[in-house]
Amino acid sequence: MDKNKTILVVGAGGFIAGHLIKRILENGNKVVACDIKPKEFWFQDFDNVENHYSMDMKDISNCMKVTNKVNYVFNMACNMGGMGFIENNKAECMQSVLINTNLLIASKENKIEKYFFSSSACAYNISKQDKVFIEGLKEEDAYPADPEDGYGWEKLFSERMCRHFFEDYGIQVRIARYHNIYGPYGTYDGGREKAPAALCRKVIEAKKKNAGTIDVWGDGNQTRTFLYVDECVEGTLRLFDSNCSDPMNIGSDEQVSINQMIEIIENISGISNLKKNHQLDKPKGVRGRSSNNDFAKKVLNWSYKMSLKEGLTKTFKWIENEMTREGSNISRFTKS
Ligand code: GDD
Repeated sequence: MDKNKTILVVGAGGFIAGHLIKRILENGNKVVACDIKPKEFWFQDFDNVENHYSMDMKDISNCMKVTNKVNYVFNMACNMGGMGFIENNKAECMQSVLINTNLLIASKENKIEKYFFSSSACAYNISKQDKVFIEGLKEEDAYPADPEDGYGWEKLFSERMCRHFFEDYGIQVRIARYHNIYGPYGTYDGGREKAPAALCRKVIEAKKKNAGTIDVWGDGNQTRTFLYVDECVEGTLRLFDSNCSDPMNIGSDEQVSINQMIEIIENISGISNLKKNHQLDKPKGVRGRSSNNDFAKKVLNWSYKMSLKEGLTKTFKWIENEMTREGSNISRFTKS
């Protein structure tokens, strides 16, 4: 990434964006950062950045203001969470389309050089994910369109809008489909947490209380691939530097069931044989999901390196520390 470019990161108080800003700053770039959340709810907050707290990017005048003085835009903002959130807040999730729409219009008006959009594996056709073990989803598997209701439709629509801004106005766009990114400085409680953080928290709580049982949504046989956040940032920056304007998977191919992931977490925690209370009425999402990463390997000459066990170990330690730390501000990680 050219050090002389000034970079706008939208959704800067969020999980992935916080890690991304850290890397961009290490590279020597100037950063402008904004988020709808007030300062106290940002996961990471860097001093040497022009921060705009409580700034709603659904409002086009805000988009115009902050795109005025930057070269590149990273749109990492959306109202989201794990299955517990997106299955019960579809209207909320779909309103993120306003952020992407207004930011693209403002980027066009202010002649932004390159625009990144953070899409999701939820953009994929759900009928291709109805078995426990599936072949990795290839980029073309998003069509015919039948994505995750609400959140996935917004992502697919926004991807397509990026494509048309590229075709019609020549804006350079880069689009990543993230596959369940996890790691430190992310939500682990409060309703928006994804499975890796939620299950780390539940195992930590069980250990603390000597409980012997944890609640698990679904029968635990559903599968996913998970990607550690540092790997996600690396893939994102490589994609950004590439010439590829098509959507690209940024994920791992270490497909595990939820039950297998719990076993890994139990090993990390030093306890074993927790009983699982499988809650079949809780949000489950698709039955099986896995990322095919051939396109990223070919175009970016890149693939993830960190095993799920290694990434979960780092995540577990961070969550355990947060949960036991005196003065830990748990609400910081739960606010919408
Ligand atoms: N969140 C959560 N909490 N999920 C649990 C739990 C729990 O305590 N116990 C079991 N699960 C199961 C869910 O039922 C689901 O089948 C699976 O773990 C994965 O759940 P999530 O991590 O919440 O969501 P996802 O993988 O279906 O989708 C997530 O990743 C997508 C990208 O790959 C979401 O965050 C989407 O918003 C995101 O686009």
